[in-house]
Amino acid sequence: MEEKVLALLRESGERPLSGEEIALRLAVSRAAVWKAIEALRAAGYEIEAATRRGYRLVSEGDILNEGILRAALKEEGIKLPLLFFRSVDSTNSEAKRLAAAGEKRDLLLAAAEQTAGRGRSGRSFLSPEGGLYMSFLLHPASPAEEAMRLTTAAAVAVSRAIDEISGKKTGIKWVNDIFLDGKKITGILVEASVSLENGGLEYAVVGIGVNVYEPRGGFDPSIRDVAGTIWGPGEKKDSARARLAAGIAKEYLAILRENDPEAVHRAYKERSLVLGKRVTVLRTGREEETALVLDLDEAERLVLQYDNGRIESLGTGEIRVKI
Ligand code: BTN
Repeated sequence: MEEKVLALLRESGERPLSGEEIALRLAVSRAAVWKAIEALRAAGYEIEAATRRGYRLVSEGDILNEGILRAALKEEGIKLPLLFFRSVDSTNSEAKRLAAAGEKRDLLLAAAEQTAGRGRSGRSFLSPEGGLYMSFLLHPASPAEEAMRLTTAAAVAVSRAIDEISGKKTGIKWVNDIFLDGKKITGILVEASVSLENGGLEYAVVGIGVNVYEPRGGFDPSIRDVAGTIWGPGEKKDSARARLAAGIAKEYLAILRENDPEAVHRAYKERSLVLGKRVTVLRTGREEETALVLDLDEAERLVLQYDNGRIESLGTGEIRVKI
C-alpha cells in the first residue's frame, strides 16, 4: 500500500494529489491513504500536506530500507550477510536468538526502529525512527577477556565512521558512549556467551545504537537533556543512515582484521573525552567520589587519583563527567 501511494506521489511530481484522488485511484479508503502517508513519513519521506490541495512528495530524505542498505554495504565491499528489519524488538536480542538456535555465521543485523531496545546495566534504549540500530553477531576465536577489546574497538570504529560521514568531531566517553557537542549520540552494548568448557567466547553480539536525527516529536523528556543527534532538524542527508551503517561496518571489520590492540588503544585514547578530566565515580552501594583521570591503561581501565591521593584502576562502572 505504501509503495503504491509513493509511486503515485512520485508520478505526480510538483502537482499535489488529494487524499480523495489517491483513494479513488487505489480503490481504498481515505483513512488507508492517510495511514500510508504517515508510515512513509515515519520512514523518512518528506511529504507536504497543503490544505485542500493534497499531498506532495518534497524529498525522499534519508530512507533506510534493505535495498539502500545493501547497496551501501556493497559500495564499501562489506561481505557480511545482512538481516534488515523495518522494526524489531532489539537487534541484539535477535542476534542472540539466532546464535542460540545454532547460527554459526558472522552476521550484521540492522533496523530502522526497535520496540524493546536494550542498553547497558539492564536499562532500556529508546529506539524510534530517526536512528540507526545495528548488531554484529561475531564468533571471535579470542578468549573471553578479549570481549572488552570488542567494545573499545567498536567505540573507535563508530566515532571514526560518524566523523567521516558527517564531517563533525565526535569523542568517546568511557567506556563506550560516543558524544558530539556535549551530548550522547551513540550507545554500545556488547553481550557475549562464554563456553564453560574452555572459557572461550562462543559468540559475541556487538550492538550499536546511533541517534542520527531527532525522532518525531523530539526525544522523550527523560533523556532530552543528555541525548543528542548527528544532524539537527531539517538536515536530512541522502541515505545517511545506510552510509553510516556501511561506514561503521567497514571501520569495525578492518580493526578486527588488523588485530592490533595497541593501535586500537592509541586511537581510543586520542578520542577519549575523559583523560585529564575530573570525574564523579558512581558505584552501587558506595558513595559518589570525585577523582582525576590520570590515564587509560592497556585494558582501557581508568587510572584514577581520588581526592585523598589514592590511585586506583577502574575496569567497569559508571562515571559522570562534564564534557
Ligand atoms: C547504552 O548506551 O546503554 C547502550 C545502548 C546500545 C543500544 C544498541 S541499539 C542496537 C542494539 N540492540 C539493542 O537492543 N541494544 C543495542
